Amino acid sequence: MSSFVSHPVEGKYILVTGGAGYIGSHTVLELCRNGHSVVVVDNLCNSVEESLKRVEIISGKGVPFYFCDVRDKDELNKVFDKYDFWAVIHFAGLKSVFESCKYPERYMNNNVEGTRILVECMIEHNVHNIVFSSSATLYGNPKTMDPLTEDCELGPINPYGESKLKAEQVITEKFKEYEDGQACLLRYFNPIGADVTGLIGENPKDIPNNLLPYVCQTLVGKRKFLRVYGNNYPTRDGTGVRDYVHVVDLADGHLAALEKLRENEENRNGAKAPLNDRVLIYNMGTGTGYSVLEVIDSMNKASGKIVPYKIVDRRKGDAAQVVACPAKANKELKWYTRYSISEMCADAWRWQSQNPDGYSKPSKKVLEMLENFKKEHAVSQ
Ligand SMILES: NC(=O)c1ccc[n+]([C@@H]2O[C@H](COP(=O)([O-])OP(=O)(O)OC[C@H]3O[C@@H](n4cnc5c(N)ncnc54)[C@H](O)[C@@H]3O)[C@@H](O)[C@H]2O)c1
Repeated sequence: MSSFVSHPVEGKYILVTGGAGYIGSHTVLELCRNGHSVVVVDNLCNSVEESLKRVEIISGKGVPFYFCDVRDKDELNKVFDKYDFWAVIHFAGLKSVFESCKYPERYMNNNVEGTRILVECMIEHNVHNIVFSSSATLYGNPKTMDPLTEDCELGPINPYGESKLKAEQVITEKFKEYEDGQACLLRYFNPIGADVTGLIGENPKDIPNNLLPYVCQTLVGKRKFLRVYGNNYPTRDGTGVRDYVHVVDLADGHLAALEKLRENEENRNGAKAPLNDRVLIYNMGTGTGYSVLEVIDSMNKASGKIVPYKIVDRRKGDAAQVVACPAKANKELKWYTRYSISEMCADAWRWQSQNPDGYSKPSKKVLEMLENFKKEHAVSQ
């Protein structure tokens, strides 16, 4: 449950693009728990509307949903015409590194063009604030094993990372002219875990690209074994080290970013501000790294099962260690992560074991839990 208190702006809505997806649905839930009025647009290319239905049931708050591609400016304009938005949180995008190497144009079009059109709609409707889902992939294959600060050299090494860098640049460029515009560009490290209810979680439509969902699917028998790419890196046990962040901590990071933008807007009181004070960049990670074998061990403990795995050759382009320095977000956003790796794994496992088929074919237990939430509160619009 959210620890971060975020104040809704009276009478205003938050637009969440890609809100039916993994990080989006958790953020919508935390926004609802904090009393915000939220509207979602999503083209459901990697999600299902059921995630939002569950968010409504858990929170007791209605979330208007529009089936809309952010690149469809006419449809998006209709949503902007209908609601008075105070801010946009922009999750809508494609996120598979592997797929982006096969279809780079698709990634540029969706992630960059989608961001450009969204920002144009914001400007045309005088919406000032955006929080953008960026990524640690912008740092590419870092030369250092030290925690990465926001001013580390950028050098994405795949089309996905390039599309995220270009999307950051689109926002920055547009906001040079749009002097009322403010943005928080949040560079996520490795979000994992799920809401503590285990009723929403990561639900990949295809073969998972990331470690945790793959491990979870292996544990429920959907995948035979996990491939561990390389065990000869200069790390504690030779396997790659990454900074895993609980998705609820990450969702809170978005609330903290909104709070920062609101405070800045109030403090400025209509005065002009330089671009650097209006486009803010933050790393979203814990500052602590775990190796692949450590994550496997944590999942074994969380599930009471054993993850079958095989060590295979290193993958081209994989770094030994990628860990965030979250000091800037700690200081300026007052955002601190709360969850340990064992809690992240326990929550990921609760979601996976309660929902082995994702959002389809809900188990008896899930249906009962949803009924109990419905009894607790009717969904208000
Ligand atoms: N999960 C990660 O490891 C990670 C790490 C860093 C950054 N990110 C970024 O965070 C964002 C959310 O990631 P996620 O893990 O929740 O992914 P996700 O695929 O679960 O969510 C993305 C959502 O956006 C929707 N979408 C995609 N293109 C769209 C479009 N053109 N119009 C409307 N909706 C569209 C999808 O249907 C999906 O619901 C993405 O932009 C991703 O690049 C994710």
